[in-house]
Amino acid sequence: MKELIINSAREAGKLLMGKFERGIRVEFKSKFDLVTEADRQSESLIIKRIRNQFPDHDILAEEGDYGCSGSDFRWVIDPLDGTTNYAHGFPWFAVSIALEIRGRLELGVVYNPYVGELYFAERGAGAFLNERRLQVSTIGTMEHSLLATGFAYNHRKCKANNYDYFARFQKESQACRRPGAASLDLASVAAGRFDGFWEMMLKPWDLAAGILLVEEAGGRVSNFDGQPMTLDSLECLASNGLIHTEMQEILQQGCRPHDDLRA
Ligand code: IPD
Ligand code: CA
Ligand code: CA
Repeated sequence: MKELIINSAREAGKLLMGKFERGIRVEFKSKFDLVTEADRQSESLIIKRIRNQFPDHDILAEEGDYGCSGSDFRWVIDPLDGTTNYAHGFPWFAVSIALEIRGRLELGVVYNPYVGELYFAERGAGAFLNERRLQVSTIGTMEHSLLATGFAYNHRKCKANNYDYFARFQKESQACRRPGAASLDLASVAAGRFDGFWEMMLKPWDLAAGILLVEEAGGRVSNFDGQPMTLDSLECLASNGLIHTEMQEILQQGCRPHDDLRA
């Protein structure tokens, strides 16, 4: 399974690179939510590989509905995280694949093919960037932290749109970034490049592999109250652990998402 998850991510990344910057045709799922043929082809490549070996496993992926048989094994797939970046030729995107066994994340891969960085985590065995073992950063105050976030596609319509949080964190941290691929934001927390990350209304495929990476690199992931989060949580706060409470204090004061905001 470890080989399968890594090889599938690498192959899908190769496919994405083959189409990158070649005038890819864009379709709109909604006014701001894009999809390209690269998203769909990457997804079918990954699913084909998984189904070849494990036809009975469940699959949750962004671009299709593959049903749910109640298997103990579920693969959670974002075939192209950072589609907007990809469609505009901005080279920051990834393939994200995770494996849950009986509802627990066991394996995760986030692969950025443009820079050739493959992040891998296995529960209990650590997190790695290519061959290097990962450890979250040791920065202990928000004042000195580099943070990352993102905005859901419905941010123009939602009250919980993240604008106020962004302004607050921008003032109280060293700086905030909005790179455009949540899986890579989480992977970057695991790698100690970002000290913290928050976002609202992410989907299971944005989160799954990244959560395991952060945890296996010694970081902490929760909702905005500090409670454990599931893949269906509307709030994600990930950090090196040391600045978690400081970030939580800000996140508890703002406009937070409710179930009816789920797109
Ligand atoms: C999006 C990216 C982005 C995040 C959005 C996601 P997509 O995923 O991860 O960083 O802010 O909320 O939907 O659509 O590029 O796979
Ligand atoms: Ca995504
Ligand atoms: Ca996607």
